[in-house]
Amino acid sequence: MDALPEIVRGVSLSEHTSLGLGGEAEAYITVREVAELKAALRYAERRGMPVLLLGGGSNLVVADGGFAGLVIALGMRGVELQREGDVALLTARAGESWDAVVEYSVGEGLAGLECLSGIPGLAGATPVQNVGAYGQEVSQRLRQVDVLDRANLERRCMTPEACEFGYRDSLFKREPERFVVLSVTFALTPGGAPSLRYAPLRDAFTDQTPSLSRVREQVLRLRRAKSMLLDPSDPNSRSAGSFFTNPIVDRTTLNEVLRRAVEAGVIESVDEMPHYALDDGRIKLAAGWLIERAGVAKGTRRGAVGVSAHHALALVHHGGGRTADLLALARDVRAKVRERFGVELLPEPVMVGFERAPL
Ligand code: EPU
Repeated sequence: MDALPEIVRGVSLSEHTSLGLGGEAEAYITVREVAELKAALRYAERRGMPVLLLGGGSNLVVADGGFAGLVIALGMRGVELQREGDVALLTARAGESWDAVVEYSVGEGLAGLECLSGIPGLAGATPVQNVGAYGQEVSQRLRQVDVLDRANLERRCMTPEACEFGYRDSLFKREPERFVVLSVTFALTPGGAPSLRYAPLRDAFTDQTPSLSRVREQVLRLRRAKSMLLDPSDPNSRSAGSFFTNPIVDRTTLNEVLRRAVEAGVIESVDEMPHYALDDGRIKLAAGWLIERAGVAKGTRRGAVGVSAHHALALVHHGGGRTADLLALARDVRAKVRERFGVELLPEPVMVGFERAPL
């Protein structure tokens, strides 16, 4: 039988989430090997306990009542690099810090992940949300995701197609009870040029092909300026990153949103509203822009919670608050956007410990 690591009681999940919010876990365990993970899953199964797989906690909203089940903190570490012709295959186990993986890839001169610098959390969480920033998404470079299938506790290698990636979406997100990501393998380009698809990033350079490390530094600067880098000395960074996803709408809805924006006097001409055409003909709107133009100013405070002073899409916990306060603010923000633009914002973080979806 696989060894089960020590089970700890009374762990406050607020200490394991970037928001610093949330109640206690009924039971908490850290696994460092797949055998330990399997033992922990069997333990929960035998007792009929729900399981929460915990990575870096940077995309989690945990209920004040905590989590009535077993929290399994994923601590499998290790990074491996292999050459395959012109491609470098970089494998990171789930418990590696994501930014350490990006830093390593940039240090090795491997192009493909540089724009994903400074994203908090662990490597194993990145395919779940199909993490993306500044024109790159992990799905663009993923070669393989190794998972443990909870249905039979067997390992499986999944191709990117099998992961069914979309914008901030994947099979793992849609079936949260089914798979545990064990490792991710990326196909990167040795000596490749950095990606400069995102205009504010491109505009920072006068030369056409800055080095990967200069691009990484610039991404870190951009994120820091928006308080999207976890930094204990920056109170605006105590968030779960973007609290809502950017809404994806059809052309009819876009026109309706534009009509409402002009009618409300928010814009004078339609090209003033940021929006991006997707390959499938739909349009991605900018939730942060909608929030601000719905009358929620950056830096808004409501007691212990508020809106980031540097990005309207991040809700912030200033300390001493409760998850209920944050959710009340989120509902309010959502209602204002709905009233002004007729658009429903959907939360981006994973909600834990709630009987029903709280938003
Ligand atoms: N905007 C505002 N006000 C704001 C924030 C943004 O008007 O307070 C406008 C900006 O001026 C810009 C547009 O909205 O015209 C888009 O803003 P930004 O470029 O900052 O990106 P975003 O769409 O708000 C997304 C991701 C971020 C990622 C950035 C950079 C989502 C939900 N968020 O934000 O990811 O870092 O692009 O690529 O897709 C996350 O997912 O947690 C996250 C931080």
